[in-house]
Amino acid sequence: MTSFWSWYVTVLTLGTIFALTWLLLDTRKGQRSDQTDEKVGHAYDGIEEFDNPLPNWWFWLFVGTIVFALGYLVLYPGLGNWKGILPGYEALDTKTGTPFANGQTGWTGVHEWEKEMAKSDAKYGPIFAKFAAMPIEEVAKDPQALKMGGRLFASNCSVCHGSDAKGAYGFPNLTDAHWRWGGTPAEIKTSIMAGRHAVMPGWAQVIGEQGVSDVAAYVLTQLDGRKLPEGAKADPAKGQALYATNCAVCHGPEGKGNPLMGAPDLTHPGAFIYGSSFAQLQQTIRYGRQGQMPAQAELQGNDRVHLLAAYVYSLSHGENAKAEE
Ligand code: HEC
Ligand code: HEC
Repeated sequence: MTSFWSWYVTVLTLGTIFALTWLLLDTRKGQRSDQTDEKVGHAYDGIEEFDNPLPNWWFWLFVGTIVFALGYLVLYPGLGNWKGILPGYEALDTKTGTPFANGQTGWTGVHEWEKEMAKSDAKYGPIFAKFAAMPIEEVAKDPQALKMGGRLFASNCSVCHGSDAKGAYGFPNLTDAHWRWGGTPAEIKTSIMAGRHAVMPGWAQVIGEQGVSDVAAYVLTQLDGRKLPEGAKADPAKGQALYATNCAVCHGPEGKGNPLMGAPDLTHPGAFIYGSSFAQLQQTIRYGRQGQMPAQAELQGNDRVHLLAAYVYSLSHGENAKAEE
């Protein structure tokens, strides 16, 4: 904050508190000290006011709030550039061993968070490191590791993938056998570390609206022999030719997908995240899709991601995982 705004905030805040204190004390001066039946003389809607002093408990409550406010302002940062007199916390950046560059001393919410993180790193760091040195398949069999991985998943991943990891519209199911980017331990870890950005181009401009309907009809009828809706003006045979020239490069000649670019398998209804009805297929093909998995390397670091990868891997492998389809 520039010193102008710092002074502006300070003067306004303290000025208000002192003005209120003065008002409180000054109005008390002229007050009688005893109870009375006299009225102050104004009436509103038949309601009148006795000329009684402010009750003592009420007066002291006011005084209390003022003392509290002043105490708070002295202890904590907030009044302009004042840092508060509570001790600061100088978090060390574990990568460089130097204090964080935000240059702040004194109490801040960020410092409290850094303190918590440092505490948990000190406590769990060695356990994380132990698991990080083991192969993911092995970690995926360790009950303690899965418990920790499950907790990390609940707080970082379930917003998108669901608390049961079964996904939702636009977010893939991580418990089944269908992988857009590959389901080996290494591929799963890469998906989480570096994130993924899928690019399915839109086709309306390229093959026209009729082409979109035809190729959608082809994809639909390839899916366990589904039928086109009544009266749909689309020709799956024409669609097949369009598929071969435009789609096979990414989704493969048989529609089995390609994990190198995250092109999904188009032959299993369960593998679709944007829906597999005729209308949904047209929508996807017409405008394209750009699913994004946010990278976790910076946020979580290698050791946590290793546990997360093991947890995700365990969901479709091992005793508890049921093979679907
Ligand atoms: C903001 C939403 C979001 C969050 C948070 C998120 N993901 Fe994802 N994730 C996605 C999307 C979207 C995709 C699919 C990308 C695509 O379209 O190919 C994905 C894909 C994946 C994949 C690849 C799936 C496949 O089929 O190959 C894995 C593995 C994964 N996420 C794990 C995680 C884990 C573990 C976390 C928590 C650390 C996480 N995700 C957090 C949105 C999210
Ligand atoms: C450049 C590569 C590429 C080409 C060419 C391509 N796709 Fe895709 N397609 C993708 C990718 C990558 C995704 C995943 C998008 C996402 O996850 O957001 C995808 C997703 C889809 C989906 C949605 C699947 C779901 O999960 O709901 C359908 C349907 C689809 N493509 C059909 C087609 C058809 C039909 C064509 C040809 C007209 C085609 N694609 C051409 C890369 C491609």
